[in-house]
Amino acid sequence: MAKKNSRRLLLIGNWKMNPSSPEEAVSLYRRTRTKALKFPGVTVVLCVPYIYIGLLAKKAADKRIHIGGQDISVVEGIGAYTGAVSAELLSKVGARYTIVGHSERRIAGDDNIVVRAKLKSALRAGLFVILCVGETERDSHGRYLTAVKEQVESALRGIDRAEYHKVIIVYEPVWAIGDKALRAATPQDVLEMQIYIHKILADLIGQEIARSMLVLYGGSSDQKNAEEILRTGQVDGLLPGRASLNPEVFGVMIVIADRVARAT
Ligand code: PGA
Repeated sequence: MAKKNSRRLLLIGNWKMNPSSPEEAVSLYRRTRTKALKFPGVTVVLCVPYIYIGLLAKKAADKRIHIGGQDISVVEGIGAYTGAVSAELLSKVGARYTIVGHSERRIAGDDNIVVRAKLKSALRAGLFVILCVGETERDSHGRYLTAVKEQVESALRGIDRAEYHKVIIVYEPVWAIGDKALRAATPQDVLEMQIYIHKILADLIGQEIARSMLVLYGGSSDQKNAEEILRTGQVDGLLPGRASLNPEVFGVMIVIADRVARAT
């Protein structure tokens, strides 16, 4: 993973439960890859449904585009756990990354303790972890800041210092995610939260490691707001959901991210 200052931005496409067939998945992947390979300032990670990981990871032998999962089971290794997919299994079929703590998994029952267990298990399996944090709503008393702090601190508790560089934090306010979202966070919101998260990290592990850690934004990011969020928010990339399912829109985001990466 590139460190800050060598300025390479990360675009993580979260396909969620899409598309509806392997053929479509391959086509979407190919179109995204063609674009990604043209723009050296950007690393693309596609977090795809489990069933497509093996298929796409075989094709993703390039350092500018990687395949990841969207979640892992809390149990590790192998065993009698019907329906579960461990980090180890994910890694064996070629995933290099996995999301943990996405709000759609938190809503389904993952609390901070489960998220921490998943994060550790992913690190043990050698995966990069995309840790999603974010408040469900903004209140005028600043409670949302405490919620984000707790999510970050809890998830990282007990992690070896040498492993921090394998964790990417994505600020994803729940109110900004999905087609029912009011809007994306403003670039100013993103800047404030990015600084705040880096401060939490600095208090936890010291300035130097904190500064080298990547903090991204996700929630209704698209080709219209990408430039402003990246420039003003000074984040290390974006995690689009819907926009990653449209290769033209995602392609424009790649071009924008590359431009911003070169300009900074
Ligand atoms: P969205 O999803 O870009 O469609 O809002 C982002 C996410 O849930 O990760």
